[in-house]
Amino acid sequence: MTGEPASAGSGGTQTVRAAFNRLGRRFTAAGLENAALDARLLVCHAAGLSHEQFIAGPDRELAHENLRCLEDLAERRLAGRPLARLIGHREFWGRDFALCDDALVPRPDSELLVEQGLALLTGGVGAGAGRIADLGTGSGCLLVSLLADFAPGLGVGFDLSQDALATARANARVHGVGGRALFARADWLAAAGLFDLIVANPPYIASDEIAGLAREVADHDPRLALDGGDDGLEAFRRIAAQARNHLVPGGALLAEVGSGQAAAVAALLAAQGLSADPAEDIFRDLAGVERVVRARKSD
Ligand SMILES: C[S@@+](CC[C@H](N)C(=O)[O-])C[C@H]1O[C@@H](n2cnc3c(N)ncnc32)[C@H](O)[C@@H]1O
Repeated sequence: MTGEPASAGSGGTQTVRAAFNRLGRRFTAAGLENAALDARLLVCHAAGLSHEQFIAGPDRELAHENLRCLEDLAERRLAGRPLARLIGHREFWGRDFALCDDALVPRPDSELLVEQGLALLTGGVGAGAGRIADLGTGSGCLLVSLLADFAPGLGVGFDLSQDALATARANARVHGVGGRALFARADWLAAAGLFDLIVANPPYIASDEIAGLAREVADHDPRLALDGGDDGLEAFRRIAAQARNHLVPGGALLAEVGSGQAAAVAALLAAQGLSADPAEDIFRDLAGVERVVRARKSD
């Protein structure tokens, strides 16, 4: 959007276009990576505009309270608060997911879990009944995406955080799968039954590496969603020890792993009697990083 009037901001009013252009320049000057996108999303959020309304009405005047709200959002963005935390939602696998402080902001890398999960489900994994467990469900983005794109599926999302579970439940309702999804507080698979597919994106950052992550992650994502213990593999050890007893014969587990962890996680799963062949069961994300490990329970 270009053509900002020279008088933009004078007299305390601004059009949508002027507010967007000014904010975009501020964010660019501050070195924000996605300055224009962040500016657009914050203007839309502050003014209660949809993307379509933003495009269709660049000359609309913003009310004073919208401008005050926008300024407050801009300052918090410039202070390092992630965009998704400011607007309270994030797109994942083509759908919008509401967030809360206890829910990790869904990452594009995790879409690989959905892609591989759908391939297994449509291929009739396990008994072909489409029973899915999502360990550490957070916003529910994995389970909700799988259920939304695999209509016969039924699933349970587990987490330790009640706030995350409430958010996941709401996301399931919004995306029309609330009747096929349950959300329950549990320590990994402790309270679980039997499943055809288990998906897990557990915390996998080594405890002493968390402080060195980008500030937007280290300061704003929940510690419970990040901290994988001394070597980053603690949650995988616990999940590997439980998974075999909660899979039907022919069932499979898909786990997201951190960079450099895939072979170690495949070995942990194999040591618990699941088959995970490093040559066939490790999948790379779009950046070429080994990101998902698949393990199967033999018939
Ligand atoms: C990396 S986040 C993944 C969130 C979501 N599945 C996603 O992919 O965006 C890990 C999640 O595991 C949950 N968690 C941590 N420890 C847990 C445990 N012992 N049992 C169940 N969930 C746990 C955290 O609360 C967090 O929601």
